[in-house]
Amino acid sequence: MNTMTIKQDSATASKIKGSIVVVGPGIMLGAHITPRSRTYIEKADLVFYCCPMLVRDWITTLNPNTRNLGEYYGIEKDRRITYREMVDAMLAAVRDGLKVVAVFYGHPGVFAWSTHKVIEEARAEGYTAHMEPGISADACLYADMGIDPARYGCQSYETSQFMFYQRKIDPTAYLLLWQPAHAGDTQIKNQPSTPAQRQVLVDLLCETYPAEHQVALYKAPFLPMDKPSIRWFALQDFASIDIDLVETLVIPPAQKMQFNQSIMNKLHALNQ
Ligand SMILES: C[S@@+](CC[C@H](N)C(=O)[O-])C[C@H]1O[C@@H](n2cnc3c(N)ncnc32)[C@H](O)[C@@H]1O
Repeated sequence: MNTMTIKQDSATASKIKGSIVVVGPGIMLGAHITPRSRTYIEKADLVFYCCPMLVRDWITTLNPNTRNLGEYYGIEKDRRITYREMVDAMLAAVRDGLKVVAVFYGHPGVFAWSTHKVIEEARAEGYTAHMEPGISADACLYADMGIDPARYGCQSYETSQFMFYQRKIDPTAYLLLWQPAHAGDTQIKNQPSTPAQRQVLVDLLCETYPAEHQVALYKAPFLPMDKPSIRWFALQDFASIDIDLVETLVIPPAQKMQFNQSIMNKLHALNQ
């Protein structure tokens, strides 16, 4: 065996050793995590987390070898830079040959860029990488607000992205807007947007919905003794309401679904 082969073999060996699993603890502290995700955390060499503080403390009781990805956030810092730095930190540990687990709150793949990116890049470099599903905010919302997304359909957007691009809203279905506290922030900072920026969203939505249409800000309970928070108000009042960073905006249907008679005729013809 020549030197080149030995070098390649050791490179391959170190690639096989490093790995990453991305897991989610759900929304409710200590109550939503799956047994599989919990076991991955307990057995990891290093656990990264991007979660509320109490969740971090709880994860540390499962495995003391942790690193806080939340340190990369800065109030004036572009969140896209933060997300890239998170990926780089996790990948560096994988390249060091560690069994890495990354914990991102809720479902780790729901409205989270870094989690999908780190898996994509780790796999491209030959490492084992996968995601475990978790309980997301919308999973809680369906339960607490009694919404079955199958009844009228359900559209789901990140609020600012919804504003930045031309979308076709279907007012006969539910519309969920995530991160409404950051509505219209073109600099993607880690702080709430202004009433003026939120008014732009109100004006956009009022092209489709009546100004007095009742909408809700929903917050899933974080502690087992907490109750869900569901705040109803008229769409036109959205800009003047204080919003929690972890609330989701729920816009119920404003119009009735219209039967598609020509498609039904085609389908009936097929049955004859
Ligand atoms: C970056 S996303 C993360 C979502 C998370 N990965 C999940 O699975 O729910 C943050 C947004 O999720 C929603 N969210 C997070 N926690 C929530 C909660 N407790 N109740 C309602 N919505 C929540 C809000 O729209 C918030 O702005």
